[in-house]
Amino acid sequence: MELTKRPRRLRDGDTIRRMCRETRLSPDSLVYPIFVDENLSGKRPIDSLPGQYHYGLDTVTEAVKECIDAGVRSCILFGIPSYKDAVGSSAWDPEGVIQKAIRIIKKAYPDFYVITDVCMCEYTDHGHCGALCGEKVDNDATLELVSKVALSHAEAGANMVAPSDMMDGRVAAIRKTLDECGYQNIPIMAYSAKYASAFYGPFRSAAGSAPSFGDRRGYQMDPHNRREAIKECALDVEEGADIIMVKPALSYLDIIRECSDRFDLPMAAYSVSGEYAMIKAAAKEGLVDEYRIMCESALSVFRAGADILITYYAKELAKAIQKGDIG
Ligand code: PBG
Repeated sequence: MELTKRPRRLRDGDTIRRMCRETRLSPDSLVYPIFVDENLSGKRPIDSLPGQYHYGLDTVTEAVKECIDAGVRSCILFGIPSYKDAVGSSAWDPEGVIQKAIRIIKKAYPDFYVITDVCMCEYTDHGHCGALCGEKVDNDATLELVSKVALSHAEAGANMVAPSDMMDGRVAAIRKTLDECGYQNIPIMAYSAKYASAFYGPFRSAAGSAPSFGDRRGYQMDPHNRREAIKECALDVEEGADIIMVKPALSYLDIIRECSDRFDLPMAAYSVSGEYAMIKAAAKEGLVDEYRIMCESALSVFRAGADILITYYAKELAKAIQKGDIG
């Protein structure tokens, strides 16, 4: 057969396949979520996220050491506080769980890059992401609160803050507060296109942050929308975000592609708890090959245009990349 073009030539053997890979991965791009529970000593498995743990303040450095050993150089912290109230005041307490965790981690591993999730839902007794006015979250009142939270994280030594509350104007408010207080060099990674997703289910039981009434559709994005994601990213860029994020990842690869094409900032994607838990559950049933599904899923997020991936598989992925199984 006379065929001038034979794409299979470049698939004929491992060396040439690797040479021609279009997407390259690095452990440098991975961020590992760590849950710190102020009420805990030791560590406790998280039922909704097999293989993940709640760490006490006495064991949180263990989680960091595992990251470093695997080649992961950054984490994002989530806290379970010892007390909750209507406005979530434990979120900005200088002696709060995240503030203490940052200091402990930074003392033990000064070079480990600590990002903090800035939100109220783990700290409010009603589980919503801000202060309430009746049954609704009061946007402008919440801006003041999330700014205080971000500042307290910076003061404790965080390297970067990541607001996930989806209030309008939060990036500008946080940037202003950080700048006024001398933290011009702390970057903001904005959860820009954060959808009101069922994929957060396992996280909410892990973080104790499910809303006690209603849902988050009044502030998180409607999954039907694509143009709105562009609007949200554009606003965050204007307001001074350093990194924009799309969340969840796998069901929103189109959004990752579109926003990474349009905006010149680094693009992060958060492969959320439900994505992880589904792979774990299917693998446990013997339905899929966990390792290969993990690799292929992560790869798809980078192929879609992400530069940074937040994932519960960060350590395993870093090892897979180092082995050359992906990347
Ligand atoms: C806090 C927050 C959530 C997640 C990250 N930050 C939960 C939510 O918005 O309900 C979800 C992460 C995951 O599911 O892995 N607002």
